[in-house]
Amino acid sequence: MTDAVETPSVRVRAPGKINVYLEVGGRQDDGYHELATAFQAVSLYEDVVATPSDAFTIAVTGTVDLDGVPADGRNLALRAARLLASEAGYEGGVHLDVHKQVPVAGGMGGGSADAAAALLACDALWDTRLTGAELHRLAARLGADVPFALKGGTAVGTGRGDELNPALARGRFDWVLVVSEEGVSTPKVYGELDAHRERHRVDIGPVITRPSVDADVLHALRAGDAAMLAAALRNDLQVATLRLRPDLAEVLELGETSGALAGLVSGSGPTVAFLCATPEHAAELRTVLETAGHAALHVHGPVPGARVVG
Ligand code: C5P
Repeated sequence: MTDAVETPSVRVRAPGKINVYLEVGGRQDDGYHELATAFQAVSLYEDVVATPSDAFTIAVTGTVDLDGVPADGRNLALRAARLLASEAGYEGGVHLDVHKQVPVAGGMGGGSADAAAALLACDALWDTRLTGAELHRLAARLGADVPFALKGGTAVGTGRGDELNPALARGRFDWVLVVSEEGVSTPKVYGELDAHRERHRVDIGPVITRPSVDADVLHALRAGDAAMLAAALRNDLQVATLRLRPDLAEVLELGETSGALAGLVSGSGPTVAFLCATPEHAAELRTVLETAGHAALHVHGPVPGARVVG
């Protein structure tokens, strides 16, 4: 027998997401855009282990290119831990080990998932007794997509994307993701969309003032019908992402002519997501895309949001 006491630590896993529908309204005075989106959490995860410490420190590892991920106080996971400590009146610190599988700056909410996981892990470690609603409020302060990473599943987001309502979803949707080597900046994509709308104002007409998720999307999710969902996929940011990354048009075309029901840019991109009819179709499409030299992954959704794991 030894007297050694194992250091308590908490591990939380949080999913990346695909926006299966994203309608973007006008730019508000605070720089954000009012939007309506349908999120689906998918089986690509970020893991965060929180260990007690006097200071706030972080180490980042992963299966994805980690260039551009700060391993200091700028990291969103560490900012989440600090925010929770100050709101809960916790005086100690924490060490966070973040293991990333979601592409960095890929449009799949990887950084948001890290923040959600860090919030939940520190909440459990420090036993803060904050309510779910209070955690949600802190999540929204960290970023528009952080509340969804906490909730997971399928949800409709309005406002900045942070006002969530769960959506009924049945069954499983299979996706093939094509991951880019280089990320894109989300603010740059929104800026490009504003510029595009300004340039083509006459053709496009007025920007939607009250974005809403198309009823066909909600119907397809409820029915678990991939073909119906494929016909209703929409991403208003895609036109802007494609201007910044014209090479993605070819990727979309390749996927759509190689067995996908439909493809779209995920969020602000540059990850491209292809919806497939069955897991077998997805496995085949992944092989086709890999043979063409792309980094491709097969994932499925919906999956649960951030949760403590053994
Ligand atoms: O909230 P988050 O940090 O994820 O947002 C990143 C950037 O994306 C914002 O600074 C803003 O430029 C843009 N954005 C937006 N409208 C939204 C969400 C994000 O313009 N609803």
